Formats: sequence, structure tokens, C-alpha cells
Amino acid sequence: MGADREFKQVCVAADVEEGAYAEFDVGGRSVLVCKWQGNFFAVENECSHAKNPLCGGRMRRGSIVCPLHGARFNIRTGAAEGPPATLPIETFEVKVEDEKVCVAVKERKVTAGSTFLPPGSLPTESA
Ligand code: FES
Repeated sequence: MGADREFKQVCVAADVEEGAYAEFDVGGRSVLVCKWQGNFFAVENECSHAKNPLCGGRMRRGSIVCPLHGARFNIRTGAAEGPPATLPIETFEVKVEDEKVCVAVKERKVTAGSTFLPPGSLPTESA
């Protein structure tokens, strides 16, 4: 058994309604705790497309939709299921004990190719 992850209580089960989510700060990271079909899931609150917060987007059938450009992500796997995002978002383990919802948040990882450049801001060549 590894002790490489630490679960932190973020709320109680009644704080998140079925088919909805709530935003929490967990160890300095913004996390959305989602409830779908009676189960809890946790995802990072950051779209992989242009780093916009996902909070404010709609949750539908196990997915969350980015409110900025409409990318859709599976809340179980983090997979990008709709454009314009192609990269997944991070997901976190969740456990519920005595109605306490606990999330194991990992340190932020840097993903190659995840840098977003807004239109008109092409990278400059350094001589
Ligand atoms: S920032 Fe989320 S789809 Fe563009």
C-alpha cells in the first residue's frame, strides 16, 4: 500500500446535488467536485484548451462543458470529448466516508504541448 497520496475532506455529501458540481480549493488547487448517478468525481477546474476555469459550465450526462468555447470533458476520466480541446483535464481520486467527501489532489504536473497562445501572439525566435 502506498502512502503517496493524501485525502483531504472538501465537503459533506449533501453539499453537492445530483447532476451538479461545487468548487473547492484543495491544497492550493481549484477542484470541482461533481456528483453523477450517485457517485462523486473530482476534476481540475481548468480547461485544457485555453486554461479557462470550467466552473460556470454546464454538467450533462457525466460531462462538463467549458463555458468559454464549449469543450466537453468526461468527469470520470478527464478525457476531452468535444472540441476545441484535445487534451484531457486532470482527475483526482475521491472517497466518501461517513458522508465526508475527501479528494486526493496531486501536485500540478506540467504537460508538454499544453501551452496556449492566443491568436496573434506567435512565438518569437530568439537569435
Ligand atoms: S478555454 Fe475551454 S474550450 Fe476554450
